[in-house]
Amino acid sequence: MKLSLDTSGLTEVRADALIVGRHSDDAKLTPALAAVDRKLGGRLSKVMAAEKFEGKIGQVSHVHADGRVRASRVLVAGLGPKKDSGAEAVRRAASAAARRARDLGARSAAAYLAADGVSARARAQATAEGAVLGTYRFDKYLKEKSPKSLDSLAVSEPERRSQAAAEAGVRAGEIWALATCLARDLVNEPANVVTPAYLARRAQEIARAGRLGVKVLERADCARLGMGAYVGVAQGSHEPPKFIHLTYKPKGRARKRVVVIGKGITFDSGGLDLKTADGMYRMKDDMSGAAAVLGLFQALPKLALPVEVHGLIAATENMPSGTAQRPGDVVRAMNGLTIEIGNTDAEGRLTLADALAYAAKEIKPDEMLDLATLTGAIVIALGMGLSGVFATDDGLADRVLGAAEAAGEKMWRLPLHDEYKEGLKSDIADLNNVSSQRGGGAIVASLFMRDFTDGRPWAHLDIAGTAFTERELPLGPKGGTGVGVRTLLAYLSALAGKR
Ligand code: BES
Ligand code: MN
Ligand code: ZN
Repeated sequence: MKLSLDTSGLTEVRADALIVGRHSDDAKLTPALAAVDRKLGGRLSKVMAAEKFEGKIGQVSHVHADGRVRASRVLVAGLGPKKDSGAEAVRRAASAAARRARDLGARSAAAYLAADGVSARARAQATAEGAVLGTYRFDKYLKEKSPKSLDSLAVSEPERRSQAAAEAGVRAGEIWALATCLARDLVNEPANVVTPAYLARRAQEIARAGRLGVKVLERADCARLGMGAYVGVAQGSHEPPKFIHLTYKPKGRARKRVVVIGKGITFDSGGLDLKTADGMYRMKDDMSGAAAVLGLFQALPKLALPVEVHGLIAATENMPSGTAQRPGDVVRAMNGLTIEIGNTDAEGRLTLADALAYAAKEIKPDEMLDLATLTGAIVIALGMGLSGVFATDDGLADRVLGAAEAAGEKMWRLPLHDEYKEGLKSDIADLNNVSSQRGGGAIVASLFMRDFTDGRPWAHLDIAGTAFTERELPLGPKGGTGVGVRTLLAYLSALAGKR
């Protein structure tokens, strides 16, 4: 989808579909909408009345313009009540209207979604994001492709003094949305395509395109560095593990050095502690954290933020075999701690432990974040609508939650409750990778990983419930959601003092 800015007045916009927003509690039509309605001889208000258009978010009404304005059709998109207004209302309205425009056969659209209290820049960015994310599809393996999507979307900004800001918003929205779509594609691709080697290849392509630093450590390199926890998970698979290290360095002085780690289990069978058929079915999505990191690094060079960012992915499969790690085995992580393998299916924390230890030792960042489809327990605790956030630093937690809010990704902080550390004791090693006590599984996993952060500020996002959706969502179809990409971008932009 080609994205652009359209500076003409609404009745002058040329497109197959002109999209105009409306709040549910606007007593009268806004001046912009009223002008369009007048040109249409009042047909827009008639259709809205007949269809009981209330202006709820996601609701769309449309009329054919019959040559009365330049656009072929006019779509009114609900923006919800003014008190809940914000960028997310614009995103969802843009998504719903772009889907409708597409289904009506439109190939070009222009959108004017002026929501209460949303700046021209934020509105333009949210419109671009909503349209791209809402019409995303993954149909490469289908003989019968879904109907053609929109070729182009213009964000309409007739107000002259807002046009520079709107232009910047469109560009940012495009970069953020395409980064999210990259993450979605990687999650939707099956595990026979997305192997650790495939992730490494994609990382190298992204690095080449964006002039980023990239290093891929092989199994032997990782063993030499002492990453026994990560290498132990990898030993059951025929697919060689790849430890990926991407680096983005700004041109000038960096305000901060940040490490972002993505869990990269390209398939989680559980290992010798094998999952059930139902439990295993969707486990191609166990690299969603890694997908978010790759999406982020596709975007970073285009945004030129003054922050040094390192992306780490300890990619591997978790498979059962004659060479697989056994329950009861003891491994040593890169920071020297020994771990008894209480359950081979708690593999994510083992790979992340070594990634965290590597980050602390080799990169010495100011802050570290990880994104991981880590526990079934977070799905029990928060369901499919919220990601869990754990953090060793309140300032970092607040900034991550603020970024999630700005990005429209719902997240909720949970406590690193120290008393549960007791359950992670082992008789023969420093730690067990699972707890002897019941419950609180997402907290326990976080406490386990904290031991590898070397006391550096760290936030962990458990995205097991939010990385993949079994039903259509306001901003995307079934499948990978690309969760985390836009939160990371908002977090880094805020560190840079942008947006
Ligand atoms: N990848 C899973 C977590 C998961 C579960 C993600 C469901 C998405 C949906 C993780 O590696 C895992 O297997 N966790 C176990 C840990 C347990 C053995 C302590 C779990 O949550 O059951
Ligand atoms: Mn597992
Ligand atoms: Zn897993």
